[in-house]
Amino acid sequence: MKKVRIGVLTGGGDCAGLNPALKWVVKTAMDERLEWERGVRYEVLGIRDGWKGLVGIDLSSPDTQGSIVPLNPDIVRTWDRYGGTMLGTSRFSPYDPKNACHGLVRENIERLGLEAVIAIGGDGTLAITTRLSREGVNVIGIPKTIDKDLPETDYTLGYETALNVIVEEVDRLRTTAGSHKRIFVVETMGRTAGWLALEGGEACGAYIILIPECEFSIDRVNELVMEGRRSGTRYEIILAAEGARTVGGNEVVKKEGMDSFGHKALGGVGAVIARQIEEATGLETRSVVLSHLQRGGAPCAYDRRMGRYFGIAAVDLVVREKYGNMVSFRNGKISYSPLENIYGKLRLVDVATQYDADRYNGRRSMLNNGRKKNVNKNQS
Ligand code: F6P
Repeated sequence: MKKVRIGVLTGGGDCAGLNPALKWVVKTAMDERLEWERGVRYEVLGIRDGWKGLVGIDLSSPDTQGSIVPLNPDIVRTWDRYGGTMLGTSRFSPYDPKNACHGLVRENIERLGLEAVIAIGGDGTLAITTRLSREGVNVIGIPKTIDKDLPETDYTLGYETALNVIVEEVDRLRTTAGSHKRIFVVETMGRTAGWLALEGGEACGAYIILIPECEFSIDRVNELVMEGRRSGTRYEIILAAEGARTVGGNEVVKKEGMDSFGHKALGGVGAVIARQIEEATGLETRSVVLSHLQRGGAPCAYDRRMGRYFGIAAVDLVVREKYGNMVSFRNGKISYSPLENIYGKLRLVDVATQYDADRYNGRRSMLNNGRKKNVNKNQS
């Protein structure tokens, strides 16, 4: 029987859902029943630490064993229960001028005899995947990121687990906030996309939600807080995306500079907002940064299911030799899209139809999706 070897890797920030996807790539590729139907015996090599695992491989050295792991259904049997990634990950780009080793990555893919590589990642990892595809490497992408900011798909692995963390933590904060009559500003991740803050805030019933897609006025935030207090609230939960910024203001960063994928290190806006609210209103205000808690822990049921479906769909594409695509979830169906349609693009919240720019919260009309009028009074 014809033998075909494929590689699989996870790149970028870890999250829940990666291990279920890895498990189902391996199980689907190496399924003995399917093997007879396909007339092909697939082998799967796990590549450690993202694209970095394909650099510095010396096939004659034991080192190779460190970055390449042969996988089989027995090894991956229980992986879907666990968070993070069993293969490890990195934000290493072979196209970063500091590394400049994409030629070597290509050569090593050939030397390892990999017919195709399945890369599970967000915008950074999939951009590398697209560029390698342009250079003739057979690749398939699987979307993952708690930011849910990839175009061409309604779901990215890790997102739903992260939302559950937000809801769980806010539920905890409510009792202490209420006891002390305090305001809590809870900072979520998400980079330049507001999905985590918006949909996390909708799920936990946040009083105010601040997202990067809609610059906010701190005066309006204070006004809304005071309005709440006048109507008898004891406490407020404000969700602020790490990329949220005031009208005409800048994003708050933890440190200057960019990572290898060209991303800023955002963080700290929650504390800034909390200080400003306390100064203006005199109300005790605390901030909490949920940070990597949103990426950690076991995958929720949805991420286990979506990891499974995406893993299976990625192997389906390999079997059909439909390379250069990313598996996706659109309009309730598992599908796929050309990686080129994703390259360099982000899917952000559409403020006009998905956000209430006056009350800084989720929308109050579900059926009027085409509504154009959503005036941000503070920007007009
Ligand atoms: O892209 C995923 C993400 O979790 C972002 O929401 C966040 O800004 C970033 O990664 C944090 O990255 P790091 O793991 O490098 O701190």
